[in-house]
Amino acid sequence: MVESKSLSLLIFTMLVSFSSAQTAIKGGYWYSESGLKVSDIDASHFTHLFCAFAILDNNKVTISSSDASSFSTFTQILLQKKSSIKTLLSIGGGKGPSLAKSFSDMASQASTRKSFIDSSIQVARNNNFHGLDLDWEYPSTNTDKTNLGLLVKEWRAAITQESKTSGKPTLLLSAAVAGSDQITSLQNYPGQELANNLDFLNVMTYDLFTSDGYPKVTQPPAPLKNPGGQFSVDEGITKWINQLGLPPKKLALGLPFYGFKWLLSDPNKHALFAQATAGAGAVKYKDIKNAGGQVVYNSTYFTNYSYKGTDWYGYDDTQSVSAKVDYAKGKGLFGYFAWHIEQDSNWALSQAASQAWGSEIDGLQKVYRE
Ligand SMILES: *[C@@H]1O[C@H](CO)[C@@H](O)[C@H](O)[C@H]1NC(C)=O
Ligand SMILES: *[C@@H]1O[C@H](CO)[C@@H](O)[C@H](O)[C@H]1NC(C)=O
Repeated sequence: MVESKSLSLLIFTMLVSFSSAQTAIKGGYWYSESGLKVSDIDASHFTHLFCAFAILDNNKVTISSSDASSFSTFTQILLQKKSSIKTLLSIGGGKGPSLAKSFSDMASQASTRKSFIDSSIQVARNNNFHGLDLDWEYPSTNTDKTNLGLLVKEWRAAITQESKTSGKPTLLLSAAVAGSDQITSLQNYPGQELANNLDFLNVMTYDLFTSDGYPKVTQPPAPLKNPGGQFSVDEGITKWINQLGLPPKKLALGLPFYGFKWLLSDPNKHALFAQATAGAGAVKYKDIKNAGGQVVYNSTYFTNYSYKGTDWYGYDDTQSVSAKVDYAKGKGLFGYFAWHIEQDSNWALSQAASQAWGSEIDGLQKVYRE
């Protein structure tokens, strides 16, 4: 009796201590240029919020003067809303070839990598972030691949050392990476080094079929499956696991909180791949909802779309978001993240995603609780 009691206490202790590290990610990027006030974020739907973006300037990480005050209070404001929230400062972003070259140059030498790494840690600590998120879009050569591998290895060593010296919890380290070979060759990423040195990767599984790239027919911009072609969310995630060797537990699936608009050639022909005359760019989810078109769900491609007159929008609605989150969970991924949260409509997508995932605590603890 006594023995079995202490045995179950031991098992209980093991489960709790093991599972306390096994949280999932329900992530979202807050984009400073979106105009959403940090104090207006509904943090209840998220476990991790990314503050975008810090700048790469002369091989150092800095915050622009216009962002200084909102970035410095970001963590404090969100912790008041949800005490378990983790905040990460995201560095870089999808700002084109010149920023990509700055990353490539920085990563090419030990001295400039050190300058980048040291300044990133200092900026994170000075502004109370829990972690750092590298958003280099994109490494594009074999040399970039090697240098990115060195960068994350040296970065991991530096944040481990800094935690020992400062006595503070180790900073989290993540990276936003391309979501499909449609975006850039996934072969330009050093899978093993990323797996060994990053806490997790945000896989940007979106922008696969945009109205800029494919103006002539309507498209599902980020289809979970693509029976008609090569590229899909599933294709990208599967490559990260099977070809680049990432453990699924290190991957977060990207959800676009926006869609793309096409103009139909014939308003009566409004299916997927209907003829369109011109692309009309990216549109926020909330603006697509406000347009009030007829909403359709296509379960072959796992995408919603809507149309009204000649306006046609390919995007993710609550139904396709839930289907993607179910997929992420089924694949054993770490979770998901959204780009970017201001585009949501009354937190509908954030809530649908969070509900589809369920508990933030991983299966082990759930087993104990049940
Ligand atoms: C999805 O759209 C494609 C292309 O229009 C069509 O062939 C397919 O039947 C649709 N799937 C469903 C389930 O409606
Ligand atoms: C997507 O379209 C279907 C109708 O085909 C609809 O029932 C569903 O509510 C839509 N999904 C949303 C709003 O997520």
